[in-house]
Amino acid sequence: MFYAPDDRDRTLLPHNPLKAIVAPRPIGWISSLSPAGVANIAPYSFFNLVSESPDMVMFSSSGVKDTVRNILDTGEFVCNLATRALLAQVNLTSAVLPREESEFDLAGLARAPSRLVKPPRVARSPCALECVAVEVRELAGRSGASTGHWLVFGEIVGIHIDEAFVEDGILRVEKLNSLARCGYFDYAAVEEIHTLPRPGGQSFTSA
Ligand SMILES: Cc1cc2nc3c(=O)[nH]c(=O)nc-3n(C[C@H](O)[C@H](O)[C@H](O)COP(=O)(O)O)c2cc1C
Repeated sequence: MFYAPDDRDRTLLPHNPLKAIVAPRPIGWISSLSPAGVANIAPYSFFNLVSESPDMVMFSSSGVKDTVRNILDTGEFVCNLATRALLAQVNLTSAVLPREESEFDLAGLARAPSRLVKPPRVARSPCALECVAVEVRELAGRSGASTGHWLVFGEIVGIHIDEAFVEDGILRVEKLNSLARCGYFDYAAVEEIHTLPRPGGQSFTSA
């Protein structure tokens, strides 16, 4: 089968499979703070690490949601690691709440203080990246027209790791059971790791 994005055969594929093709996608479980001090948290799976040195992340928001609004207002956010143990809470925090209500409370999530930025972390999340926004801009399509999707780039200024998941100097992703988004309402959790050194014998630090 082949189709242009707008010409999918909806009898064969009633639901758009695109997000099942580009899957699994990591989830940025992003906490931010409103100028009034309300702690917001929401999952974003159009999310990734985009560089090292400087360490930078990016996520994309369909419209200016509260997370983007808070980052535009305060310039700071935290990416909390979503794990299988926190799946129900990750989903709950995608609820649309008024800006003055906190998804931390809705999902019964305890806050932990961050060190270098003001938004709190998820206490139960084993890893968190404290970030300072470096660019927030609307994405343009190939015609140059604006899309209504907003890209947020942030530089990581602080990293939290629960040392219970570090063994022999390695952060054990299969023990973290990191959560990823597949298509539809589907998620995957990391359970199995295959380690294969690079042909050139590079170290872990090579991209
Ligand atoms: C696992 C998951 C991933 C999501 N990824 C995105 C995303 O990448 N971009 C987006 O705009 N919304 C995404 N959403 C929806 C937002 O989480 C939802 O709109 C949320 O209410 C936004 O919260 P906010 O207004 O507090 O920022 C996702 C939802 C779930 C459950």
